[in-house]
Amino acid sequence: MAQINTLLDSFEKDRSYVIKALQTLQEKEGYISDEGIQSIAEYFEVPPVEVEGIVSFYAQFKRVKPGRFVIAVCDGTACHIKGASLVTNWISDEIGIKGGETDEEGLFSLDIVACLGCCSLAPVISINGKVFGNLDRKKLMKIIKKYRKKGGEV
Ligand code: FES
Repeated sequence: MAQINTLLDSFEKDRSYVIKALQTLQEKEGYISDEGIQSIAEYFEVPPVEVEGIVSFYAQFKRVKPGRFVIAVCDGTACHIKGASLVTNWISDEIGIKGGETDEEGLFSLDIVACLGCCSLAPVISINGKVFGNLDRKKLMKIIKKYRKKGGEV
């Protein structure tokens, strides 16, 4: 809570900054917690239900704490053509989660994202920002296995 309050201190106490504050909080914590909503509501003097409404209205905000490893599947044009849907299905089958979800152990989250900027490597994923390209099922399973086994030391 103290960390959130420190973060909020950089904002003018004007309700027009609520969305910016939510974005900043999510950048820092990876999601919007109940405490985050409460702190923002108190700081900007708006009802918590209003802040909750903003969070649920915009798809960019996440209410669930992300897993230790966030897998982002690129579904930009190049990756889409080269089988991004297949990659997503392979990951879903292997980990048991769909886009936007986190597994029960809190190890993996799966996001479907726009172009990651390395289209020549399509299809592409990133895990906590590290890019893996030219994926086929075998290569993908090897990557996931290594993350599971070594705790991300790939
Ligand atoms: S479309 Fe996937 S990296 Fe550009």
